[in-house]
Amino acid sequence: RIVYLNGAWLPEEDAKVSIFDRGFLFADAIYEVTGVVGGKLLEYQGHAARLQRSMVELGIACPLSPDELLAVHREIVRRNDLQEGLIYLQISRGPADRDFAYPKDAKPTLTLFTQAKPVLDNPKVATGISVALLPDQRWARRDIKTVQLLYPSMAKMEAAASGADEAWLVEDGFVTEASAASAHIITQAGRLVTRPLSHAILHGITRASILDIATEAGIPYEERAFTPEEAKDAAEAFMTSATNFVLPVVAIDGQPVGTGKPGPLTLRLRQLYIARKV
Ligand code: PDD
Repeated sequence: RIVYLNGAWLPEEDAKVSIFDRGFLFADAIYEVTGVVGGKLLEYQGHAARLQRSMVELGIACPLSPDELLAVHREIVRRNDLQEGLIYLQISRGPADRDFAYPKDAKPTLTLFTQAKPVLDNPKVATGISVALLPDQRWARRDIKTVQLLYPSMAKMEAAASGADEAWLVEDGFVTEASAASAHIITQAGRLVTRPLSHAILHGITRASILDIATEAGIPYEERAFTPEEAKDAAEAFMTSATNFVLPVVAIDGQPVGTGKPGPLTLRLRQLYIARKV
Protein backbone atom coordinates (compact mmCIF):
# COMPACT_ATOMS: atom_id res chain seq x y z
CA ARG A 1 0.00 0.00 0.00
CA ILE A 2 0.93 3.62 -0.51
CA VAL A 3 0.13 5.65 2.60
CA TYR A 4 0.06 9.37 3.35
CA LEU A 5 2.13 10.85 6.16
CA ASN A 6 2.47 14.61 6.71
CA GLY A 7 2.51 15.58 3.04
CA ALA A 8 4.49 12.56 1.78
CA TRP A 9 3.29 9.53 -0.19
CA LEU A 10 5.24 6.48 1.00
CA PRO A 11 5.23 2.70 0.77
CA GLU A 12 3.66 1.61 4.07
CA GLU A 13 6.93 0.15 5.42
CA ASP A 14 8.64 3.53 5.05
CA ALA A 15 6.05 5.55 6.99
CA LYS A 16 7.52 6.17 10.45
CA VAL A 17 6.17 8.18 13.39
CA SER A 18 8.13 9.31 16.47
CA ILE A 19 7.84 7.31 19.71
CA PHE A 20 7.18 10.73 21.32
CA ASP A 21 4.06 11.25 19.23
CA ARG A 22 1.20 12.06 21.63
CA GLY A 23 -1.06 9.77 19.64
CA PHE A 24 1.21 6.92 20.79
CA LEU A 25 1.83 8.11 24.37
CA PHE A 26 -1.56 9.63 25.31
CA ALA A 27 -4.04 8.48 22.64
CA ASP A 28 -4.09 12.22 21.93
CA ALA A 29 -5.45 11.74 18.44
CA ILE A 30 -8.68 11.53 16.49
CA TYR A 31 -9.69 9.51 13.47
CA GLU A 32 -12.27 9.00 10.77
CA VAL A 33 -13.22 5.99 8.68
CA THR A 34 -14.74 6.75 5.27
CA GLY A 35 -16.20 4.02 3.10
CA VAL A 36 -15.25 3.62 -0.57
CA VAL A 37 -17.30 1.78 -3.21
CA GLY A 38 -16.49 1.78 -6.92
CA GLY A 39 -13.56 4.08 -6.13
CA LYS A 40 -16.02 6.70 -4.83
CA LEU A 41 -15.91 8.26 -1.33
CA LEU A 42 -19.10 7.70 0.68
CA GLU A 43 -20.58 10.45 2.86
CA TYR A 44 -17.35 12.45 2.64
CA GLN A 45 -18.88 15.76 3.76
CA GLY A 46 -20.27 14.18 6.93
CA HIS A 47 -16.94 12.63 7.88
CA ALA A 48 -15.05 15.85 7.13
CA ALA A 49 -17.48 17.85 9.30
CA ARG A 50 -17.19 15.42 12.21
CA LEU A 51 -13.39 15.43 11.92
CA GLN A 52 -13.49 19.21 12.12
CA ARG A 53 -15.68 19.01 15.22
CA SER A 54 -13.34 16.51 16.94
CA MET A 55 -10.36 18.77 16.17
CA VAL A 56 -12.10 21.80 17.65
CA GLU A 57 -12.98 19.84 20.81
CA LEU A 58 -9.34 18.83 21.32
CA GLY A 59 -7.72 22.02 20.01
CA ILE A 60 -5.79 20.23 17.28
CA ALA A 61 -5.31 22.22 14.09
CA CYS A 62 -5.50 20.41 10.76
CA PRO A 63 -2.39 21.07 8.66
CA LEU A 64 -4.50 20.91 5.47
CA SER A 65 -7.34 23.08 4.19
CA PRO A 66 -10.72 21.36 3.55
CA ASP A 67 -10.00 21.30 -0.21
CA GLU A 68 -6.53 19.82 0.34
CA LEU A 69 -7.95 17.18 2.66
CA LEU A 70 -10.51 16.12 0.05
CA ALA A 71 -7.75 16.03 -2.60
CA VAL A 72 -5.65 13.74 -0.37
CA HIS A 73 -8.63 11.38 0.07
CA ARG A 74 -9.10 11.20 -3.71
CA GLU A 75 -5.38 10.78 -4.29
CA ILE A 76 -5.01 7.88 -1.85
CA VAL A 77 -7.86 6.05 -3.63
CA ARG A 78 -6.11 6.66 -6.96
CA ARG A 79 -2.63 5.68 -5.79
CA ASN A 80 -3.90 2.42 -4.32
CA ASP A 81 -6.41 1.76 -7.07
CA LEU A 82 -8.93 1.25 -4.26
CA GLN A 83 -12.26 0.02 -5.59
CA GLU A 84 -13.99 -1.05 -2.39
CA GLY A 85 -13.07 -0.71 1.26
CA LEU A 86 -12.23 2.22 3.45
CA ILE A 87 -9.92 5.14 4.09
CA TYR A 88 -8.61 5.51 7.64
CA LEU A 89 -7.48 9.01 8.63
CA GLN A 90 -5.77 9.87 11.89
CA ILE A 91 -4.53 13.18 13.21
CA SER A 92 -2.59 13.37 16.45
CA ARG A 93 -1.39 16.41 18.33
CA GLY A 94 2.11 15.43 17.23
CA PRO A 95 5.42 14.60 18.90
CA ALA A 96 6.51 16.42 22.09
CA ASP A 97 8.53 15.64 25.21
CA ARG A 98 6.22 13.66 27.52
CA ASP A 99 4.06 16.03 29.58
CA PHE A 100 0.34 15.84 30.38
CA ALA A 101 -0.19 19.48 29.43
CA TYR A 102 -0.61 20.06 25.70
CA PRO A 103 2.66 21.30 24.16
CA LYS A 104 2.45 24.82 22.71
CA ASP A 105 4.25 24.17 19.44
CA ALA A 106 3.56 20.54 18.49
CA LYS A 107 3.16 19.86 14.78
CA PRO A 108 0.20 17.51 14.22
CA THR A 109 0.82 14.13 12.62
CA LEU A 110 -1.64 13.47 9.80
CA THR A 111 -1.76 10.03 8.30
CA LEU A 112 -4.10 8.18 5.94
CA PHE A 113 -4.12 4.60 4.71
CA THR A 114 -6.57 2.40 2.83
CA GLN A 115 -8.01 -1.04 3.55
CA ALA A 116 -9.46 -2.96 0.62
CA LYS A 117 -12.42 -5.15 1.58
CA PRO A 118 -15.82 -6.02 0.17
CA VAL A 119 -18.43 -3.84 1.86
CA LEU A 120 -21.38 -3.99 -0.51
CA ASP A 121 -21.73 -7.78 -0.57
CA ASN A 122 -21.53 -8.56 3.12
CA PRO A 123 -22.53 -12.18 3.85
CA LYS A 124 -23.63 -11.11 7.35
CA VAL A 125 -26.57 -9.19 5.88
CA ALA A 126 -28.36 -12.41 4.94
CA THR A 127 -27.82 -14.07 8.32
CA GLY A 128 -27.71 -11.09 10.65
CA ILE A 129 -25.33 -10.93 13.59
CA SER A 130 -25.57 -11.69 17.28
CA VAL A 131 -24.61 -9.23 19.99
CA ALA A 132 -23.65 -9.54 23.65
CA LEU A 133 -24.59 -6.83 26.15
CA LEU A 134 -21.63 -5.46 28.08
CA PRO A 135 -21.16 -2.52 30.43
CA ASP A 136 -20.06 0.68 28.70
CA GLN A 137 -16.74 1.41 30.38
CA ARG A 138 -15.44 3.99 27.89
CA TRP A 139 -14.71 7.60 28.83
CA ALA A 140 -17.53 10.13 28.95
CA ARG A 141 -16.82 12.07 25.70
CA ARG A 142 -17.70 9.46 23.12
CA ASP A 143 -18.86 12.22 20.75
CA ILE A 144 -15.18 12.95 20.07
CA LYS A 145 -13.80 10.27 17.75
CA THR A 146 -10.54 9.64 19.60
CA VAL A 147 -8.24 6.65 19.14
CA GLN A 148 -8.84 5.52 22.75
CA LEU A 149 -10.17 2.19 21.49
CA LEU A 150 -8.92 -0.22 24.13
CA TYR A 151 -12.27 -0.75 25.81
CA PRO A 152 -14.10 -1.30 22.50
CA SER A 153 -11.39 -3.89 21.67
CA MET A 154 -11.84 -5.58 25.05
CA ALA A 155 -15.62 -5.60 24.60
CA LYS A 156 -15.27 -7.14 21.15
CA MET A 157 -13.04 -9.89 22.59
CA GLU A 158 -15.46 -10.52 25.43
CA ALA A 159 -18.40 -10.68 23.02
CA ALA A 160 -16.49 -13.19 20.87
CA ALA A 161 -15.61 -15.27 23.95
CA SER A 162 -19.33 -15.56 24.72
CA GLY A 163 -20.03 -16.66 21.14
CA ALA A 164 -21.44 -13.33 19.90
CA ASP A 165 -20.31 -11.34 16.86
CA GLU A 166 -20.43 -7.88 18.43
CA ALA A 167 -20.91 -6.00 21.69
CA TRP A 168 -23.74 -3.60 22.49
CA LEU A 169 -22.78 -1.39 25.41
CA VAL A 170 -25.06 -0.52 28.32
CA GLU A 171 -24.84 2.40 30.73
CA ASP A 172 -27.26 3.26 33.56
CA GLY A 173 -29.75 0.71 32.25
CA PHE A 174 -29.81 1.95 28.65
CA VAL A 175 -28.01 0.86 25.49
CA THR A 176 -25.48 3.47 24.35
CA GLU A 177 -24.17 2.00 21.08
CA ALA A 178 -22.18 -0.90 19.63
CA SER A 179 -18.42 -1.06 20.17
CA ALA A 180 -17.86 0.62 16.78
CA ALA A 181 -21.31 1.30 15.36
CA SER A 182 -24.62 3.00 16.25
CA ALA A 183 -27.34 0.75 17.73
CA HIS A 184 -31.03 0.90 16.74
CA ILE A 185 -34.23 -1.07 17.22
CA ILE A 186 -37.63 -1.23 15.55
CA THR A 187 -40.52 -1.66 17.96
CA GLN A 188 -43.41 -4.08 17.50
CA ALA A 189 -45.40 -1.00 16.39
CA GLY A 190 -42.90 -0.40 13.55
CA ARG A 191 -41.16 2.63 15.04
CA LEU A 192 -37.43 3.08 14.71
CA VAL A 193 -35.87 3.95 18.07
CA THR A 194 -32.36 5.37 18.34
CA ARG A 195 -30.53 7.10 21.14
CA PRO A 196 -30.45 10.91 20.88
CA LEU A 197 -27.13 12.66 20.24
CA SER A 198 -25.18 13.58 23.37
CA HIS A 199 -21.71 13.08 24.81
CA ALA A 200 -22.66 9.42 25.47
CA ILE A 201 -22.36 8.28 21.83
CA LEU A 202 -20.49 9.00 18.65
CA HIS A 203 -22.62 11.08 16.30
CA GLY A 204 -22.79 8.49 13.54
CA ILE A 205 -22.80 9.75 9.97
CA THR A 206 -24.69 6.66 8.81
CA ARG A 207 -27.16 7.10 11.69
CA ALA A 208 -27.98 10.64 10.51
CA SER A 209 -28.57 9.44 6.94
CA ILE A 210 -30.75 6.59 8.11
CA LEU A 211 -33.00 9.02 10.00
CA ASP A 212 -33.35 11.17 6.85
CA ILE A 213 -34.14 8.06 4.82
CA ALA A 214 -36.67 6.86 7.41
CA THR A 215 -38.45 10.23 7.16
CA GLU A 216 -38.57 10.02 3.38
CA ALA A 217 -39.77 6.41 3.47
CA GLY A 218 -42.50 7.20 6.01
CA ILE A 219 -40.93 5.07 8.75
CA PRO A 220 -41.61 6.90 12.04
CA TYR A 221 -38.72 7.29 14.44
CA GLU A 222 -38.11 8.35 18.02
CA GLU A 223 -34.79 9.64 19.31
CA ARG A 224 -34.69 8.27 22.83
CA ALA A 225 -32.61 5.84 24.84
CA PHE A 226 -33.86 2.25 24.96
CA THR A 227 -33.23 -0.49 27.51
CA PRO A 228 -31.70 -3.93 26.87
CA GLU A 229 -35.13 -5.45 27.69
CA GLU A 230 -36.82 -3.28 25.08
CA ALA A 231 -34.18 -4.33 22.54
CA LYS A 232 -34.74 -8.01 23.28
CA ASP A 233 -38.52 -7.54 22.88
CA ALA A 234 -38.16 -5.45 19.70
CA ALA A 235 -39.44 -6.56 16.29
CA GLU A 236 -36.04 -5.83 14.70
CA ALA A 237 -32.62 -4.56 15.65
CA PHE A 238 -29.70 -3.30 13.60
CA MET A 239 -26.53 -1.29 13.75
CA THR A 240 -25.05 1.27 11.39
CA SER A 241 -21.53 2.36 10.50
CA ALA A 242 -19.47 3.61 7.57
CA THR A 243 -18.57 0.23 6.11
CA ASN A 244 -21.41 -1.90 7.50
CA PHE A 245 -24.10 0.53 6.30
CA VAL A 246 -27.14 -1.16 7.92
CA LEU A 247 -26.41 -4.54 9.51
CA PRO A 248 -29.24 -6.68 10.98
CA VAL A 249 -28.91 -7.85 14.59
CA VAL A 250 -30.86 -11.09 15.10
CA ALA A 251 -29.93 -12.10 18.65
CA ILE A 252 -29.14 -10.25 21.87
CA ASP A 253 -27.47 -12.21 24.69
CA GLY A 254 -28.55 -15.44 22.98
CA GLN A 255 -32.20 -14.40 22.76
CA PRO A 256 -33.64 -14.06 19.23
CA VAL A 257 -34.90 -10.59 18.22
CA GLY A 258 -38.30 -10.81 16.50
CA THR A 259 -38.28 -13.82 14.20
CA GLY A 260 -34.55 -14.32 14.73
CA LYS A 261 -33.98 -13.36 11.08
CA PRO A 262 -33.04 -10.01 9.50
CA GLY A 263 -36.14 -7.82 9.69
CA PRO A 264 -37.98 -6.37 6.68
CA LEU A 265 -37.66 -2.71 7.71
CA THR A 266 -33.96 -3.20 8.45
CA LEU A 267 -33.38 -4.68 5.00
CA ARG A 268 -35.45 -1.94 3.39
CA LEU A 269 -33.41 0.75 5.15
CA ARG A 270 -30.22 -0.94 3.95
CA GLN A 271 -31.47 -1.03 0.35
CA LEU A 272 -32.55 2.60 0.49
CA TYR A 273 -29.24 3.62 2.05
CA ILE A 274 -27.29 1.89 -0.72
CA ALA A 275 -29.53 3.38 -3.41
CA ARG A 276 -29.14 6.88 -1.97
CA LYS A 277 -25.56 7.00 -0.72
CA VAL A 278 -23.46 4.38 -2.50
N1 PDD B 1 -16.67 3.33 13.84
N2 PDD B 1 -20.22 4.53 17.22
C1 PDD B 1 -18.91 4.25 17.37
C2 PDD B 1 -18.38 4.09 18.75
C3 PDD B 1 -18.08 4.11 16.25
O1 PDD B 1 -16.78 3.83 16.42
C4 PDD B 1 -18.63 4.26 14.95
C5 PDD B 1 -17.80 4.14 13.71
C6 PDD B 1 -20.01 4.54 14.83
C7 PDD B 1 -20.69 4.73 13.51
O2 PDD B 1 -20.33 5.96 12.94
P1 PDD B 1 -20.37 6.18 11.35
O3 PDD B 1 -21.74 5.82 10.90
O4 PDD B 1 -20.09 7.62 11.20
O5 PDD B 1 -19.32 5.27 10.78
C8 PDD B 1 -20.76 4.68 15.98
C9 PDD B 1 -15.72 3.23 12.73
C10 PDD B 1 -16.30 2.68 11.48
C11 PDD B 1 -14.50 2.48 13.22
O6 PDD B 1 -14.12 2.72 14.35
O7 PDD B 1 -13.91 1.70 12.47
